[in-house]
Amino acid sequence: IPTIDPYRLPRHVVPHRYELRLEPDLASARFSGLVTISLTVHQVTDTILLNALDLAISSATIDRPNTQPLTATVEMEAATQRCRLSFPQPIAPGGWRLHLTFAGILNDKLRGFYRSTYTDLAGATQTIAATQFEATDARRAFPCWDEPDFKAVFATTLVIDRALTAVSNTRIASESVEGGKKTVRFEDTMKMSTYLVAFIVGRIESTAPVFVGPTPLRLWAVPGKHALTRFGLDIAAASLKFFEDYYGIPYPGDKLDLLAIPDFASGAMENLGAITFRETALLVDERTGTHGELERVADVVAHENAHMWFGDLVTMSWWNGLWLNEAFATFMEMLAVDAWKPEWKRWETFAVSRAAAFSLDGLHSTRPIEYPVRAPKDAEAMFDVLTYEKGASVLRMLEQHIGPAVFRDGVREYLRTHAYGNADTKDLWIALGSVARQPVPELMNGWIFQPGFPLVTAELQSERELRLSQQRFTYVTQEPASEQLWHIPIQIRLSIGGREDYRRLLLTERDVTVALPAGVTALFVNAGGQGFYRVRHRAPLLRQLIDGGLARLAPIERFNLVSDAWATTVAGLMPLAEYLHLTAQFKEERDKNVWTVLLDSFSFLNRIITPAERPALEAFVRDRVEPAVKDLGWDPRPGESDLTRQLRGELLGALGKLGNDPATQRQAVDRYRRYRTDPASVDPNVIPAFVKILAYLGDAARYEEFSQHYKTAATPQEERRYLFSLASFRDPALLSRTLSRTINGEIRTQDAPFIVSAVLGNVYGRELAWTFVKTNWDQMDRLFPKQGLRRMCGGIVALATPALERDVREFFASRHIDLGGKTLEQYLEHLRVTVAFRERELPTLKDRLKV
Ligand code: BES
Ligand code: ZN
Repeated sequence: IPTIDPYRLPRHVVPHRYELRLEPDLASARFSGLVTISLTVHQVTDTILLNALDLAISSATIDRPNTQPLTATVEMEAATQRCRLSFPQPIAPGGWRLHLTFAGILNDKLRGFYRSTYTDLAGATQTIAATQFEATDARRAFPCWDEPDFKAVFATTLVIDRALTAVSNTRIASESVEGGKKTVRFEDTMKMSTYLVAFIVGRIESTAPVFVGPTPLRLWAVPGKHALTRFGLDIAAASLKFFEDYYGIPYPGDKLDLLAIPDFASGAMENLGAITFRETALLVDERTGTHGELERVADVVAHENAHMWFGDLVTMSWWNGLWLNEAFATFMEMLAVDAWKPEWKRWETFAVSRAAAFSLDGLHSTRPIEYPVRAPKDAEAMFDVLTYEKGASVLRMLEQHIGPAVFRDGVREYLRTHAYGNADTKDLWIALGSVARQPVPELMNGWIFQPGFPLVTAELQSERELRLSQQRFTYVTQEPASEQLWHIPIQIRLSIGGREDYRRLLLTERDVTVALPAGVTALFVNAGGQGFYRVRHRAPLLRQLIDGGLARLAPIERFNLVSDAWATTVAGLMPLAEYLHLTAQFKEERDKNVWTVLLDSFSFLNRIITPAERPALEAFVRDRVEPAVKDLGWDPRPGESDLTRQLRGELLGALGKLGNDPATQRQAVDRYRRYRTDPASVDPNVIPAFVKILAYLGDAARYEEFSQHYKTAATPQEERRYLFSLASFRDPALLSRTLSRTINGEIRTQDAPFIVSAVLGNVYGRELAWTFVKTNWDQMDRLFPKQGLRRMCGGIVALATPALERDVREFFASRHIDLGGKTLEQYLEHLRVTVAFRERELPTLKDRLKV
């Protein structure tokens, strides 16, 4: 770490224990606090630097037994979020206790110590005080050494109104009431990073505890939501058991609370023992939730539980290594959910997430998984699909390569070695390498430290010779071509007449020739689908796969086939006509993921067309989608899988909206009416499609109706569904109303950025939304929570006309906007890719869409 980095703290003073006492006043949205930090001074010094932001520090003294206390002068360095304590005389090496008194406000930015509100059953507004510290916001709640490798023990005391409840990382050690106030003292935490500290105060209710071994597990929510806790509790208990077993280490906390907070910046946060969630990610009604909504809750709960070890027990040393936390939690989330509900085929569905990572990683402005971080904004920007989805994908590839049991043993070794401490990527390689007895760094460093990913081209050189070559995949070609190479574990399936055979190899050079046995009739590269690379099967290989019957490929392989074909089409490496023709081969397809990629490509076309191509695109979509809809029917069939029900919903939505199919639209209207009078009469999985279609067709009356449902929804999922429907209307007047509600307080700020982004993505609203963004930028900057603008701006990639693209570039350049890391650059390049595709394909698109 270069010592000149002004955001970093010097290491000669090291804290090891915080005694923290906080008194929040919910009515005035203020808090006051007192912290005593036990620390070791390693080098004599008269200044101490630590982090603090938006706090008023009223006193700072340091003492140790048999020494006169020293009082410091305090200077706040707002730009670097630090505070400098200057003492009148040098502090000698050894142990000291630093006492700080401070005060702050409970902010509305969903970061640090913040305020969340809800309307109670009697209609009154209630306040909750909650925390969100990752990545760098503990410093907004109390002065501290707010870097992940300054691990310490936290002993928290909260002084609150006696009618309220307080939850923190550990069990309550003691509680006493005096006057109107209650003092709640919590047990010491394990040694951990500051960003994992949490406290929540308010009128909240818990379920009875469920015990997983010695650990009491509870769900918390605002009053009246008890009925929505069952499903979350089930997966919480199941995944906790699963991880104890997989990691071979008991849960490191003394209790586990999962809390749904009405205002929450991200999806969930892995505070040790007090995991906080957005309501949609924890509370769900198993009978009315769609498969996607249930899967989301299972994912998030399993993900955060996985962090109790990966992240909390062992933490990355610095934010450049965030993938060690997040990629692992994502990987473990898949393993746990897959073990819990194998019928959900979680590793197959993960292909959709992998494709999201490919899409960003195909840009020149991508970054390596591990990437330098200095400013807090850049730490926030690390929470992206590269850290999560690409990271989890390369872990999966490694797990498959060295074998699941070996991989698990390496993980156990890593956790045991670094428990209560911090680790870097090389430490993981050492642990995995020691059990795998293979040089893991050679294999893996290319995936972690290089940007992008390879495109593997498979080409027959002769009947008995297959040539495989690798080159970096990018959507836009740039000279000179990249020289990057990866070590790619490749698995090939050969069809030899009716028989199957496999070849495994590690492609480390630019190309290799593989000898084939006689009589190969078709072959598929990336068999099993778990490699983090795209494949181009050159003629006649692709033809052979199609002619040999796509049904002979596994669903994930068909997914990859389409996804790779579409990506190479966008990159200009495959003719659009050929791709569109390929999609006609999927009329018999009944796999939800394969359909997701097909439908996504149709939506992409929808974003680049003008009104002149619309009828042709609608007819094209009907042609591709209708046969599957006819076959599946409108009602679920006995014994049908959850995934098929989900597929029905997706297809109906596409046929009714993208396909503009009148019959589907009529059915949607009828069935939706039936559903409103008798909710149990319709499978939940088709409701989002109906709501989407009805909004698409809807007038002001429908808008009123959906606005009303949004306000009175019975579950967080229903609330979310109707909220997002308000971004799917076509009438500009209605969309304008939706936009204004994102900044007038009607829509929670946790949702507002996503709603603006959704209107940007609505082809009937995008120009309106873009004008709205430009006009109200400063207000949104003040209002939206952390990450808000970054999330909202994700929507600009849909502004896919040359004129809009120009305007977007001008706006961001003229305002010198920084969204953290390379975020803005990536959004702009993504937009460039889309507009370039449009410029290339639009002139002939109408003809190509003929069915
Ligand atoms: N550690 C993150 C929460 C977080 C995200 C903190 C961004 C700071 C900035 C948490 O573990 C997480 O990854 N949450 C995800 C959900 C998860 C299932 C992928 C989220 O919030 O989206
Ligand atoms: Zn996470």
